[in-house]
Amino acid sequence: MCPPEHFGVLYEINPWMHREVSVDLDRAREQWGGLVATLVEAGASVELMEPQPDLPDLVFTANAGTVNNGRYVPSRFRHPYRQPEVDHDVAWFRANGFEVTPLPEAVAHEGAGDALPFRNVFLSGYRSRSDAAAHGPLSALLGVPVRPIELVDERLYHLDLTFCPLDDRRALVAPKAWDRYGRTVVEALVPEPFVLEDDEVLAFCANSVVVGTTIVMAACPPRVGRQLEAWGFDVAVAGIGEFLKAGGGCRCLTLALDVAIPAAATPPPSWGTAAAR
Ligand code: ARG
Repeated sequence: MCPPEHFGVLYEINPWMHREVSVDLDRAREQWGGLVATLVEAGASVELMEPQPDLPDLVFTANAGTVNNGRYVPSRFRHPYRQPEVDHDVAWFRANGFEVTPLPEAVAHEGAGDALPFRNVFLSGYRSRSDAAAHGPLSALLGVPVRPIELVDERLYHLDLTFCPLDDRRALVAPKAWDRYGRTVVEALVPEPFVLEDDEVLAFCANSVVVGTTIVMAACPPRVGRQLEAWGFDVAVAGIGEFLKAGGGCRCLTLALDVAIPAAATPPPSWGTAAAR
């Protein structure tokens, strides 16, 4: 996580951001500190990176890159405003012993904001912020299959606003935000999805942080709370309203460093050829 010392809405790169809306920095600090305390209480340990002047979105560390098994693939940001974040992200990951493996230059991919692990694959959103063309290289670098989901609602511009894996069977999902193929991908993969209503999605319910059996969320509508409780989860609410002004919620403010999906077996050399069929 990255403290919000330089957080603000200084440009507009998603439909939630309006430069004329001012951020209350004291409140942002308080809310961010509350989120850290909630995560720690749930059992997480939190590593920090240095905030940097002129990089107001560096607080959204979910977008720093994609992590698996001690390997880190830095993001390639769509918008020039966020591109200078990458040097700081890479420096942190090098200093902390991760193997840094970059994507080709021509593709955009915004890290764990768009790539979420479920079982033995990553689901990866694309369109406004990440390119589908990033999925092949990402899969090769992480050693894990990557399944694409096109994001069709511009308010829900990153996958982590529409999909929240809870455990090996369950996830909070917002299928209206996905193309038809993406829906079939999730249907095939997630045995017990809980479909969020539109207002629950827009309250950033899917942008929750899962720490063991605790779900840390920005707000918990009763219907969602009842389902999570029935599944045996505890909900902890962490108000992060100042960050919603920039289009980011609880999960966007964090990046999981302990993702560990086993590398897929290398396909045989005849994979996909006529001989294999
Ligand atoms: N203002 C940031 C942006 O538009 C918010 C990032 C939210 N991050 C996320 N993982 N959904 O890039």
